[in-house]
Amino acid sequence: MQELIVAETAAQVRAQVAEWKREGLTVGLVPTMGYLHEGHASLIDKAVSLCDRVVASDFVNPTQFAPGEDLESYPRDFAHDCALLQAHGCHMVFYPAVSEMYAPDANTFVEIQSDMTAQLCGRTRPTHFRGVCTVVAKLFNIVTPDMAFFGQKDAQQLAVIRHMARDLSYDIKIIGCPIVREVDGLAKSSRNTYLDPQERQAALVLSQAVALGQRMAAQGERAARPVLEAMTAHIAAEPLARIDYVSAVDGETMQPVETLAPGVLVALAVYIGKTRLIDNFIVEGI
Ligand code: PAJ
Repeated sequence: MQELIVAETAAQVRAQVAEWKREGLTVGLVPTMGYLHEGHASLIDKAVSLCDRVVASDFVNPTQFAPGEDLESYPRDFAHDCALLQAHGCHMVFYPAVSEMYAPDANTFVEIQSDMTAQLCGRTRPTHFRGVCTVVAKLFNIVTPDMAFFGQKDAQQLAVIRHMARDLSYDIKIIGCPIVREVDGLAKSSRNTYLDPQERQAALVLSQAVALGQRMAAQGERAARPVLEAMTAHIAAEPLARIDYVSAVDGETMQPVETLAPGVLVALAVYIGKTRLIDNFIVEGI
């Protein structure tokens, strides 16, 4: 197995990628905030299967956290991340300091001027997607990959990145990858580590609500409302859960819909104690 290259500067990444491109190799990018788990690993696996060389970024991006969110407490374990990346055949990890990514007076941002970032997670996190788009655009510029890989777990993020890549004419194929779950159904997330044992049990209402909604849609329910109501009722029955949103939206524009046509995104965000978790499913054809 090849040695994982650790790059802490953009210059180092550019030089290595330039060498690979001179050799005619294709490059895949997997952006992450570290504390890697099997969900991230599935993106690496997909990238390794489609690209000659794979670069992961491992950077807790401050601009996508609002004051009062979990920037300082966000879990980190770079040694573990490197072991996972190496085991899955990743070739290089970009691990920049905040100062490498943002000059002290950095004030240029990438922001989508549309309602798609105002719905769902954008409602409670109004500056979040501006931070995500800005850092992902910077990573695209530094790595210049042929393909970039994002999880369907963050469905709105995936839609936002696709939109941004189109609007800014990035010649990068955006690949969406399915949600990876724990054995009991909970979607894997770095933030699951915040949950105490009681909360970990309570968190199952998210994936249970997703399964319930999916079942109703598969059984032919076409109206969004009864499905959202059933999902909401299931979550509300859990005392440790506080609903942020349970919504059905168009899979591209993120605007609310009343009919569950194929491609519609049914997404939810729920606080379990202080921890905000998300999950979703896409309506399939019947
Ligand atoms: P992070 O939360 O670390 O997630 C990195 C990538 O892993 C995202 O594309 C996310 O959708 C994917 N992912 C996380 N959990 C997953 C799961 N259970 N199954 C499948 N994929 C999963 O998302 C971010 O970081 C940041 O916003 C980032 C894009 C890196 C920009 O800072």
